Amino acid sequence: MSKRQISLRGKDILGLETMTVPEIELILATAQEMKSVIDRDIKKVPTLRGKSIVNLFFEASTRTRTSFELAGKYLGADVVNITASASSVTKGESLRDTLYTVEAMGVDIIVMRHSADGAAQYAAKVAKPVIVNAGDGAHEHPTQGLLDMFSIKEKKGNLAGLKVAIIGDILHSRVARSNIWGLQKMGAEVHLAGPKTLMPRDIEQTGVYVHNRVEDALDGADVVNVLRIQRERQHKGLFPSAREYARIFGINQTRLELAKPDALIMHPGPMNRGLEISPDVAYGDQSVIQEQVKNGLAVRMAVLFLVLMGGKDIETTA
Ligand code: CP
Repeated sequence: MSKRQISLRGKDILGLETMTVPEIELILATAQEMKSVIDRDIKKVPTLRGKSIVNLFFEASTRTRTSFELAGKYLGADVVNITASASSVTKGESLRDTLYTVEAMGVDIIVMRHSADGAAQYAAKVAKPVIVNAGDGAHEHPTQGLLDMFSIKEKKGNLAGLKVAIIGDILHSRVARSNIWGLQKMGAEVHLAGPKTLMPRDIEQTGVYVHNRVEDALDGADVVNVLRIQRERQHKGLFPSAREYARIFGINQTRLELAKPDALIMHPGPMNRGLEISPDVAYGDQSVIQEQVKNGLAVRMAVLFLVLMGGKDIETTA
């Protein structure tokens, strides 16, 4: 361990593939402090007073958009939401012109979700405000990866040496990619299982273990992260039927018993209950799904604070 000054001031948060270990550690440590603000009776602090944040969402969201909005408001910033379907995008305005329009209003941060892989990188290239990627296509969802790591660390104390099983629709999952990059950087072992048609080709090159049988991924796992089947991104049938998927890959109590007795059950949400996860597992004693949502707020507060206000000395393993 060594003490280093780490800062994220002015940095775009685009993905965990390019984020360093000390930067991840800084965000997780800051999120821990932010969590105490959420638990207060009066949640508002003036840290970002006078700053402005626009949530620019081209895709649907409940958790990410709401938590970014609350995160900004709890920190005292002015927050505005733009939903593409109710904006001038419907009149043909391009992404570039939408970004320029928001920029012209003197906004400090644009939090953006978009269906295209690489949209956040593009936004960072053309727009002056700090860009925070709230999910770009099947590419990355960095704050989800960070909140997942925060939730695991909170329960297990550490990430290094853990076996994390990620189950389901890996192909379409930006959550899986951010988890894969982040968890491996922090020393965890990542095991994937899902239908072959929902497994990206060459994903082993990232360092993960890929299993054909879900049971092999679950065997002795410390964490089981179940992914949503993303029907909206599947333009052809990639598995025979919902019933067949649930039978072969669904996480139910019997399958969960293959993991360690104290294994955590996670899901980024929204869930297809009864398809990728059974209701008793989703709401069982091992589930931390509700805590993931709360931790998402703390992590997003940390990210907004750090990109505008800087960083601090932290003990880092890197
Ligand atoms: N996990 C996640 O991104 O959820 P939302 O789509 O509701 O934001």
